[in-house]
Amino acid sequence: MVTATTHSRLLHAVQNGDATPLFQECRLGPFNLPHRVVMAPLTRSRARQPGNVPSQLAACYYAQRASAALIISEATQISMQGQGYAWTPGIHSREQVEAWRQVTKAVHEADGLIFNQLWHVGRISHPALQPDNMLPVAPSAITPAGKAFIENERGEGELVPFVRPRALAFEEMPYLIKQYERAARNAEAAGFDGIEIHAANGYLIDQFIESSTNQRSDAYGGTVQNRVRLLLEITEALIPILGADRIGVRLSPLGKMNDISDDDPESTFGYLAEQLSGYGLAYLHIVNPALEQMQNGEKPEPYALNMARLIRNKYQGTLIVAGGFNADSATQWLRDGQADLIAFGRKFIANPDLPERLRVDAPLNVDDPTTYYGGGEKGYTDYPSLEQDRGEKAKACVDQRWR
Ligand SMILES: Cc1cc2nc3c(=O)[nH]c(=O)nc-3n(C[C@H](O)[C@H](O)[C@H](O)COP(=O)(O)O)c2cc1C
Repeated sequence: MVTATTHSRLLHAVQNGDATPLFQECRLGPFNLPHRVVMAPLTRSRARQPGNVPSQLAACYYAQRASAALIISEATQISMQGQGYAWTPGIHSREQVEAWRQVTKAVHEADGLIFNQLWHVGRISHPALQPDNMLPVAPSAITPAGKAFIENERGEGELVPFVRPRALAFEEMPYLIKQYERAARNAEAAGFDGIEIHAANGYLIDQFIESSTNQRSDAYGGTVQNRVRLLLEITEALIPILGADRIGVRLSPLGKMNDISDDDPESTFGYLAEQLSGYGLAYLHIVNPALEQMQNGEKPEPYALNMARLIRNKYQGTLIVAGGFNADSATQWLRDGQADLIAFGRKFIANPDLPERLRVDAPLNVDDPTTYYGGGEKGYTDYPSLEQDRGEKAKACVDQRWR
């Protein structure tokens, strides 16, 4: 549980110069951040049914983590067509917006800052998750390897093979951008401080960007300029709604998640980082290009480290990097000037007060992957804070009157 005490201790530490690079203040768009520990977007598949509505527990979960310099919400589908997994929350219905408002209120009451990650999964879906059981859409009709996570007739989660998606027609592209515009307006109405465009991890925008999933011959395919067009058009459409400085973009150069790859990642992502530099965005957020090697227990290859450097050089703005960090490596990346902020994923699942634990070098709770997706409080809101470890009573983090 993050309390005012935790917060003021962090602020006190920063104001007194007790500041390793991870605990130096930072400016992000219009916001002053007290330190540089960001909560990465984390899908937890616990939305209330029917309707994929964030639950009261979600308000509690995020408020517990409000001492993050910035919370980036779990990926949130911008439309029914954008959904790819059972029980993920949306930001397209009135009920969802109302429920998200309770989440952002709880975070703000705990002095936190929260952006909403806007998500369209493209081909990483299944007719069972689509309106009227339609085919998922994609830049090109290429079936991904792997399986979709759907809810079966018994109400349980089930993995089923992906299907061949339908290629979006050129005429549908403005409608797609409208889905993002509506979601951005909804995010603002729900009280989010900004949004992050999810252009990473093999979902729709990434499917346009990378060559293995984009075989189009129109203005959205072929050359790098054409493949990044959708992301740039979405960015340009959202700037008048939110202001550039409340928009972030997430990319995953070299990531292979969801069966994706690019013929020439240096050119593609280098060009894209350069283009995104021109908008004055709040930030660019990249998944560490070496993450998959690190997860396989391998030493990061020079080309992965070079990709991170390339993005840093091409992007003239605030850079967040996520993926496989601990306090030492995060400090090193900041010290080397390779990032401005570091996002932590799995460590934030298990440690609601992660910034404070990193600051005082306290032991970390270990995350339990069996409770990542679906379920209730277990593995969600029941990881203890340091105060709870010490036997102190943590205060309830949300108004219990809200259902
Ligand atoms: C349970 C889980 C859910 C995730 N959900 C999302 C998501 O919704 N959006 C996203 O961009 N990345 C998502 N990721 C990736 C994380 O944001 C992060 O990049 C990844 O966990 C690596 O960082 P870490 O080593 O600090 O955990 C997820 C990762 C995990 C473990």
